[in-house]
Amino acid sequence: MRIIRIIALLFLIQVQAQQGGMWIPSMLKGMNENEIKALGGKLTAEQIYSINQSSMKDAVPQFDGGCTAEVISPKGLILTNHHCGYDNIQNHSTVEHDYLANGFWAYKMEDELANPGVVVTFVVKIDDVTNKVFEGVNSLPTEADKQKKIQENIAAITKTYPRESWQDAMIRTFYDGNQYLLFVVENFKDVRLVGAPPSSIGKFGSDTDNWVWPRHTGDFSLFRVYADKNNRPAEYSKDNVPYTPKHYFPISAKGIKEGDFTMVMGYPGRTTEYLPSFAVEQIMNDLNPARIEVRDAALKVQDGFMRKDQAIKIQYASKYASVANYWKKWMGEAKGLKKANAVGAKQKFEKEFTEKVMAAKKEAEYGNLLPEFKQNYAAIKDYAIARDYFTEVVIRNSEILSFGYRLYQLEQVYNSKGEQAFNDRKNNLIKGFEALYKDYNAQVDEKVFEKLIAIYTKKSPQQFLPESVKNLNIETTTATLFKNSKLTSFNGLKELLNGDTKTVIERLNQDPGFALVKTISDAYNKNVAPKYEELNLKNIALQRTYMKAILELSPKSARIFPDANSTLRVTYGKVKGYKPMDAVVYTPTTYLDGVMEKYVPGDYEFDVPQKLIDLYNAKDYGKYGENGKMPVAFIATNHTTGGNSGSPAFDANGNLIGLNFDRVWEGTMSDVYYSPEICRNIMVDARYILFIIDKFAGAQNLINELKIIYPTEKKNKK
Ligand code: ARG
Ligand code: ASP
Repeated sequence: MRIIRIIALLFLIQVQAQQGGMWIPSMLKGMNENEIKALGGKLTAEQIYSINQSSMKDAVPQFDGGCTAEVISPKGLILTNHHCGYDNIQNHSTVEHDYLANGFWAYKMEDELANPGVVVTFVVKIDDVTNKVFEGVNSLPTEADKQKKIQENIAAITKTYPRESWQDAMIRTFYDGNQYLLFVVENFKDVRLVGAPPSSIGKFGSDTDNWVWPRHTGDFSLFRVYADKNNRPAEYSKDNVPYTPKHYFPISAKGIKEGDFTMVMGYPGRTTEYLPSFAVEQIMNDLNPARIEVRDAALKVQDGFMRKDQAIKIQYASKYASVANYWKKWMGEAKGLKKANAVGAKQKFEKEFTEKVMAAKKEAEYGNLLPEFKQNYAAIKDYAIARDYFTEVVIRNSEILSFGYRLYQLEQVYNSKGEQAFNDRKNNLIKGFEALYKDYNAQVDEKVFEKLIAIYTKKSPQQFLPESVKNLNIETTTATLFKNSKLTSFNGLKELLNGDTKTVIERLNQDPGFALVKTISDAYNKNVAPKYEELNLKNIALQRTYMKAILELSPKSARIFPDANSTLRVTYGKVKGYKPMDAVVYTPTTYLDGVMEKYVPGDYEFDVPQKLIDLYNAKDYGKYGENGKMPVAFIATNHTTGGNSGSPAFDANGNLIGLNFDRVWEGTMSDVYYSPEICRNIMVDARYILFIIDKFAGAQNLINELKIIYPTEKKNKK
């Protein structure tokens, strides 16, 4: 009995360890297929990715470059997150038709709204072109020559790769330059808004709940892909027809429970799982704290104004959310890395790596990697910190400085490319500026500037700062700048840019805002950027060799997945709660009761629509409830990152059970170090989506399009 238990336990640990990783869908045969089976999945590699028949990958497009979507009807209906469709929902909104506030539902196809510029990209096939990319590369003498040849090869292969006239090809690198895969894709450009719940459902909990479990957000929106009459990609036309997909997902209303198999497909953007310990230490101790400090200061100021003034609230809501998103993520990441002892784990890995290098007698090739990494990360440290302060203060978070920086780049265009290029760019800039100034408040920005420039002068590594910046009098500089600079209004800016090139350049240089940006940026470009670039390139080259060595020296069975690079991936795991800290245990599912617990009438984050309250009070959940309760969200051990938003979550049979939209606070470090203990992705329960479409919005037209799998009726009940 005991032995059996021990064996069972060992088996459990084994299975538990086999989670994490973002795998390439065309390469799942063998290990991944076995792991999927071991976790309870019934899907074969061929069902997930096939070039001979329709497969799951045919129904998981990238949504507008940054998110993921999935096809859920035979008429090209796609599902993604509310926060992925947010800009489009906002663009269609006016004071009379505020779709952000009230939601939007097309009850007929004619009512669906076009979104010029939005692209939905399907993967047709994935081919390994590594050998072709490396052709004629190895014999070249220098690293620069090699990289140049690689780029030439990539361009040539992409251009001539066999494909249909309406398809595109693109090549991406995997394993830090050790593998190259080519993707044949179809880009659909007629994408129409079909449905979105009000923000009080789709963005419920807003920034307070962002990156947090327990979560109660119905973060979804619906779009439809349109094609020409041959079912091929086409620009928007009223003659286009709904796209007929090769595959679409049935939606399961059967529900989930802890321990169930889950799989997520999507387009994770960027991870760095194979950094050496020195790099992780730098992120934890130097870089994240710098970024957090700057954003913390900017957000505090903005929040103060937003709480007092509704107009400012509207102007700054979207900017605030995007700055707050990674500010909060970095804080969680720091905590998680520490708690999981990521540095310790990396050090252990490095010790073993060194032993393997020696055992394989590869000291000549790989023996110096870690010492060189160590040296190089020490050398880059101050430059990297300076770069982050510069990016966060000048380019990202002080609006006046970021405006000035655009103009600084404009002047550089003049210096390097001449008058014509200058004028083209100037005219484009003015258009862009108009939108930026619409949401600009000089009073807010003045306070932000005052805080941020103080941080910059004191915290950015002093050896790179010009004397005049180091000794800046914060108070008087702030006052003069906001009194005299033309950058504090759109009219002022237009005045600055009006006239012939020479006059414009002269005038720019007399503006105190521009002048300050120029002093800071010139110093940065001279004292920091070149050296940073040089050292960073060295790190990139080291990382490529390190990755090569890891691949080469690991046993065949090792689970080495390539870092995320915005290409289609598969990750799998189990529905599972977690233990964020001592004495606290999180269960894996949330319910509408939790929405009502968080409800704060009139609050911009936690208000609840009356209709939803009524449905809750009547327990009117249609066929979607579970024992009298309405499920809202759940978590699992899938390894996801930014870009996976909108990703489909599947059950063991490939039916849709959820919609990915976030990760838990304690586990955001999964971008650097995945731990199955505390890394969880957060999904909206598919039943909540169906409930909102059906009972809340009454969009029967949409429900009728879907293939819904209901729980088998319990006959003797009722
Ligand atoms: N944290 C999620 C992701 O990185 C959701 C972000 C959107 N929501 C928000 N409250 N800002 O993108
Ligand atoms: N919320 C993220 C996204 O928008 C997903 C994540 O980072 O987990 O892609």
